[in-house]
Amino acid sequence: MDHFNYHDGALHAEDVPLSRIADQVGTPVYVYSAATLRRHFGLFRQALDWADHLVCFAVKANSNLAVLKLLGDMGAGMDVVSGGEYARARAAGVPGQRIVFSGVGKTVAEMRQAIDGGIRQFNIESEPEMRALSALAVSMGAEVPVTIRVNPDVDAKTHEKIATGKSENKFGIPIARARDVYAEAAALPGLRVVGVDVHIGSQLTDLDPYRAAYAKVADLTRALRADGHAITRLDLGGGLGIPYRRDNNAPPLPIEYGAVIRETVGDLGCEIQIEPGRNIVGNAGILLSRVIYLKEGEGRDFLIVDAAMNDLLRPAMYGAHHDIVPVAEPAPGADVQPFDVVGPVCESGDTFQKGAQLARLQAGDLVAFRSAGAYGAVMASEYNSRPLVPEVLVQGDHFAVIRARPSFEEMLARDTIPEWL
Ligand code: LLP
Repeated sequence: MDHFNYHDGALHAEDVPLSRIADQVGTPVYVYSAATLRRHFGLFRQALDWADHLVCFAVKANSNLAVLKLLGDMGAGMDVVSGGEYARARAAGVPGQRIVFSGVGKTVAEMRQAIDGGIRQFNIESEPEMRALSALAVSMGAEVPVTIRVNPDVDAKTHEKIATGKSENKFGIPIARARDVYAEAAALPGLRVVGVDVHIGSQLTDLDPYRAAYAKVADLTRALRADGHAITRLDLGGGLGIPYRRDNNAPPLPIEYGAVIRETVGDLGCEIQIEPGRNIVGNAGILLSRVIYLKEGEGRDFLIVDAAMNDLLRPAMYGAHHDIVPVAEPAPGADVQPFDVVGPVCESGDTFQKGAQLARLQAGDLVAFRSAGAYGAVMASEYNSRPLVPEVLVQGDHFAVIRARPSFEEMLARDTIPEWL
């Protein structure tokens, strides 16, 4: 459930008509609902209320400082994968003790930044990384908490580009080798082994892969304890999918996911940590766009909108579906017709949807791309020199611009022409 609904004939974000945001901020623009963010975060907390737990928001899904502050103020931890994300989490007021650092390619500079600023744990993904972190920690006189990310070789049954838990993926250490790697970790100075980490992929719509992966983590935890490791924390990753289409195929709910966690690892007495991103922020955001032209083609009509693949990359990159809805509520029973909804970028891949069934729209009308709060703004670029898409946060009947649209001057000011040219 989200807070983007029609009332008084128009689509609103909470109590704000989207047309008001379009008029004041311009389009394209991302719009997030604070109430939806709070609701979704609360659902994960509730799903784990049977355990000592920490819900760490995956910052990669949406790294706007206002979004991070809202969640951080509710007690969220943060899962970061770069020095930039670490800096954002800290700037949003999240203490280092609630930040976990994931990612296969942490540089020494990034690890140093996190040790200096405070860190809850590093999720180690390889032996070279583990040795580098050990050497760095020793040189800084620090002892850093670590988990080792294991790759359970489970098929997450999701899009191949966002599956991470199969042996062919670059992530984690093969679970079969985990005991050896834990033995080395325990022997290395500067590291304190606190737990096990796993993440098998994103946009999972079935709980069975989780059940399989977490059962393997439970077995491993028992084996590691028998080997003498104090495993007190399990980081079970993120990945729970969201409904991208308003039909009856909704993915499992956080409460059902929490039940799988309890069933598989609940008896181990570990602190439970999870890293959801998409499920918290995905349906808390839309991309608002205006129709530029309606172009009648051969056998098909194109709706050319002012948002493009540089603003919302997911359809071009993964063939992802985002529901497109008009902001003016169509009359009940109004005729619909198929449109190919495309952006202005000079690539055929700049197509959001082919044959979208929409009521007749015209130039100047507003449309919303739903479920765009996760992996939307964060994956935006300035391709075709289109200034980075702005972001707005709505709360009740008011809104704020939380990232302004850069002017052309600001965009150009980052380039320099060398004096020898
Ligand atoms: N933890 C780790 C270690 C991850 O790699 C990810 C996502 C998450 C947590 C959060 O997963 P979530 O709950 O958001 O599914 N750009 C793609 C998604 C890439 C996900 C990468 N890792 C998309 O637009 O679908």
